[in-house]
Amino acid sequence: MLVSEIPALRDHWYPVAYADAVTTEPLPVRIFGERHVVWRPAAGAPPVAATDRCPHRAARLSQGWVDGGTLVCPYHGWRYDADGRCTEIPAAEPGVPVPPRACLRTDAAGERYGLVWICVGDPSSGIPDLGEADAEGYTLIHEMMEVWSASAPRIVDNALDVSHVAFVHRGSVGSATNPRLSDYTVERDGTRLRFEVSYVAAVPELQKRNTGITSDLTSRSTEAELVEPLVFRGKLTYHENGLEHVLYKTATPIDDDTTLFCQFIARNDDPSPDRWDDISAMDRQVQAEDKALLEEIESDLPTDVTSEVHIKADRMTLEYRRILGELAERPAGAPGGAPAEEPVAVRVG
Ligand code: FES
Ligand code: CO
Repeated sequence: MLVSEIPALRDHWYPVAYADAVTTEPLPVRIFGERHVVWRPAAGAPPVAATDRCPHRAARLSQGWVDGGTLVCPYHGWRYDADGRCTEIPAAEPGVPVPPRACLRTDAAGERYGLVWICVGDPSSGIPDLGEADAEGYTLIHEMMEVWSASAPRIVDNALDVSHVAFVHRGSVGSATNPRLSDYTVERDGTRLRFEVSYVAAVPELQKRNTGITSDLTSRSTEAELVEPLVFRGKLTYHENGLEHVLYKTATPIDDDTTLFCQFIARNDDPSPDRWDDISAMDRQVQAEDKALLEEIESDLPTDVTSEVHIKADRMTLEYRRILGELAERPAGAPGGAPAEEPVAVRVG
């Protein structure tokens, strides 16, 4: 299944840039193979997003500029306000009203967790709640925002797949001699998934400094959650000292084969800013290992669950395939969540 075969993915929110990268200078972004533009009508104002195409003669609005709170098209200078309404047509005769169809196709846009998020479909809810990411007692640290030559569902599938850690990350936090996971149960609620599992992880030198753990191997648990079809939350808890390192991974589909991957974390140990680089460096190394693998995997993720081989440890990613398959059946703009005849939460593990 490719992103373009699941139109309902358009009804979700995706980060497109860091909040401070969105200014009064219009910023082009690509999502679902389309060109969009984000900007602020004034410094510090809420972000606005629209299809990056002027309704007059198709010029790219991202080549324009902001003046007096309006976005000015670079071709004939038509001006658009934050609602996408055209407020001025310089070449029109004085007193002639603006044609009603001279308006932009705006997208839902908002800001949270230091990111600008947009929804180019029909948002059934707000920007996702990510628990610790803006909770009291946790420090939010941004680690990366990169374009990967990998499909968004494959990236999220990898995040949900804990048994890969021992192998893909054998050079960092994986312990290839401890490949087995504790037993776990997958809980499903509509398109959300959650499970909790423990396993033995390696602790390289940098990770010892980052976590305060002194042994070469440690037991840690992962509470993994599919928050939205392309948004992952994974809370790592180190049993030795209670440290919580909550990973958030978002996969914004640029197109079927390309993704804007964003990762940020929340920590409960109040790390001083001079430690953030080391903490991020470890996670970036781990992600580079995933990236090398994912960029070589075909984009098409099978949702016919009989077409692949699954073992017990794969229950989370098996359920993810079912969710994507069900989403593909749903037209864009349809209400989200579980089908009405299903119980709200079911155990599938
Ligand atoms: Fe934008 Fe003409 S194309 S004003
Ligand atoms: Co990985």
